[in-house]
Amino acid sequence: MKQKIGIIYSSVDGHTKKICEHLEELLTVDQLKPELYSIEAFSGNIMSFDTLIIGASIRYGKHNPLIYKFITDEKDKLKAIRTAFFSVNLVARKDTKNTPDTNPYLIKFIKEINWKPDILDVFAGKLDYKAYSLFDRIMIKLIMRITHGPTKSDVPIEFTDWKRVKDFSEKI
Ligand SMILES: Cc1cc2nc3c(=O)[nH]c(=O)nc-3n(C[C@H](O)[C@H](O)[C@H](O)COP(=O)(O)O)c2cc1C
Repeated sequence: MKQKIGIIYSSVDGHTKKICEHLEELLTVDQLKPELYSIEAFSGNIMSFDTLIIGASIRYGKHNPLIYKFITDEKDKLKAIRTAFFSVNLVARKDTKNTPDTNPYLIKFIKEINWKPDILDVFAGKLDYKAYSLFDRIMIKLIMRITHGPTKSDVPIEFTDWKRVKDFSEKI
């Protein structure tokens, strides 16, 4: 059966968007492409989708407030279709914190939002010191020092396990 799939993302530096574009490619079947939107640009009716994927990154411990608002406002509709949610963050680079049951941000988010998507996942994000403002760079370095991650790198480090992203697309 051909399914109409929607993908909505919240991405500040573009990494969650990149993951969603990869999902779009993986989920394109017989010229039927998923519809991809940023949370800022989406204004359609989610009931037009058979399946909706929502992906959002973590900044300073939280997903974008627009994601909380969207899910809260659309909860009834979300319950009527098939849904998937994934979070992108750097804590998920650790083997002990990279599943829906072990990633602290995802656990807290699902509890707070009181919504249970059919498919839930978490992917490790990207670390790109050169792209950050001075304040963000200092803060991320501090977090990396505390969590024993790289505190220096001239090149971006992508911690994302793309095989996990493929497995996620296969579940969809
Ligand atoms: C300003 C800033 C704050 C961040 N805060 C956190 C955080 O609190 N916890 C975490 O695990 N990752 C944190 N990250 C890492 C991001 O989640 C990661 O870089 C992700 O790939 C960003 O995705 P995006 O480009 O789609 O926004 C932070 C990154 C930045 C730049």
